[in-house]
Amino acid sequence: MPNTVQSNPHDPVISQSDAWFSRANNLIPAGTQTLAKGPGQYVRGVAPKYLERGKGSHVWDVDGNEYLDYQMGIGPISLGYCYERVDRAIQEQLKSGITFSLMHPLEVEVAELIREVIPQAEMVRYSKTGCDVTSAAVRLARAFTHRSKVLCCGYHGWHDWYISVTDRNAGIPQAVQDLTYTINYNDIASAIDAVDEETACVILEPVVFEAPKDDFLQKLRELCTARGALLIFDEMWTGFRLALGGAQQYFGVDADLATYSKAIANGMPIGVLAGRADVMRLCERDVFFFTTFGGEALSLAATKATILEIRERRVSESLHRQGRKLKDGFNAIAEELGMDYVRCVGMDVRTIVTFDARAGNGLEVKSLLQQELIRRGILWGGSHNLSFSHTEADIAYTLSAYREALPVLREAVASGSVRKALRGTPVDPVFRRTTNFNTKPAVPAGERR
Ligand SMILES: Cc1ncc(COP(=O)(O)O)c(C=O)c1O
Repeated sequence: MPNTVQSNPHDPVISQSDAWFSRANNLIPAGTQTLAKGPGQYVRGVAPKYLERGKGSHVWDVDGNEYLDYQMGIGPISLGYCYERVDRAIQEQLKSGITFSLMHPLEVEVAELIREVIPQAEMVRYSKTGCDVTSAAVRLARAFTHRSKVLCCGYHGWHDWYISVTDRNAGIPQAVQDLTYTINYNDIASAIDAVDEETACVILEPVVFEAPKDDFLQKLRELCTARGALLIFDEMWTGFRLALGGAQQYFGVDADLATYSKAIANGMPIGVLAGRADVMRLCERDVFFFTTFGGEALSLAATKATILEIRERRVSESLHRQGRKLKDGFNAIAEELGMDYVRCVGMDVRTIVTFDARAGNGLEVKSLLQQELIRRGILWGGSHNLSFSHTEADIAYTLSAYREALPVLREAVASGSVRKALRGTPVDPVFRRTTNFNTKPAVPAGERR
């Protein structure tokens, strides 16, 4: 499919976006249901706020502007918007019904399929969100180990047990806050210090952007086994993307439990909890994890079609290939331009553009690059969330847009005029951390053994 977005000499018209946003004002707290989709992540006054439709890797905002999308629904659109095979499966299922009074065979079929592609998934349960399944995993680990303490690393959702480690912890009783701590990614010493006889589990994103070093994941596996804690992989971003079998397959490390949601149903809402049968069996009675929409059939039909497509079309390989082209292409341009303060890093399937301190105010430089990309028809929040629909032409166009946009940034950085070059309000910090996770260590650095 040829690329259809073009460089625009002007900022896009966003009057309909602004009109919708003013209607949301004083009606929807924060204006958004997902912080990463909200206006704080985009240059206000320049970027669109509401999207209306998508096809493949492209989206159209409510003013009719077209963009090449690198957010992809913040992860779920792994194949592409309005992807025919998945949409057909949803439409077919819709003819028979959405939610039923008894169980639906798709619950079994999809579980069998998941077990086929993820050998560690000895048993499988469904829910609706990522947060549901990370929370169920933590509860299971506590029930299985008869321990209470949780160590985490990364972002795991809005529920009490996790969000209590952040500064947005209002409404969470102190007793709950006292049970969750953090470890630092790639810092096995922080885990060795923290995993003790009260630790139920270590839950982490197996990789975010920084690759595991020095067998970090293997060592964590050994540590958990030795100390009787469960290892839980939060595979929202890695599952069905890094490899068909997710990070467990890619890194060759078996977790006790793993959780999936984004990427598994190409945009339909489903969360999957999977893992060791002896642990999962606790969900039969003692650990209560049941929910009305868990067996909702449209999402299960979408899940089945998405997994089959990922397997048959070798989607992970394509994501790695296209992502690498983008990453290497970006870094070559930055190098050519002598911009050694900006780099594209990460696993190929999902990369991020980072700036070091020499670029100046990180939020302002990110905003300026975003502004220049929006002018060139690219919806960008700092990372490249690749989908199977990102074509050769899309990648080539994106690199040509960087080739135009990066010199604008270079000039502004060199002349100290980044803020002045911005035609709107800079973006806010990203709430979801991508590095430096040890925000609430169980053992403060000064007291380490
Ligand atoms: C790694 C990770 N875990 C858990 C979640 C929570 O998922 P949800 O927002 O569907 O509850 C997210 C969401 O962004 C995530 O990125």
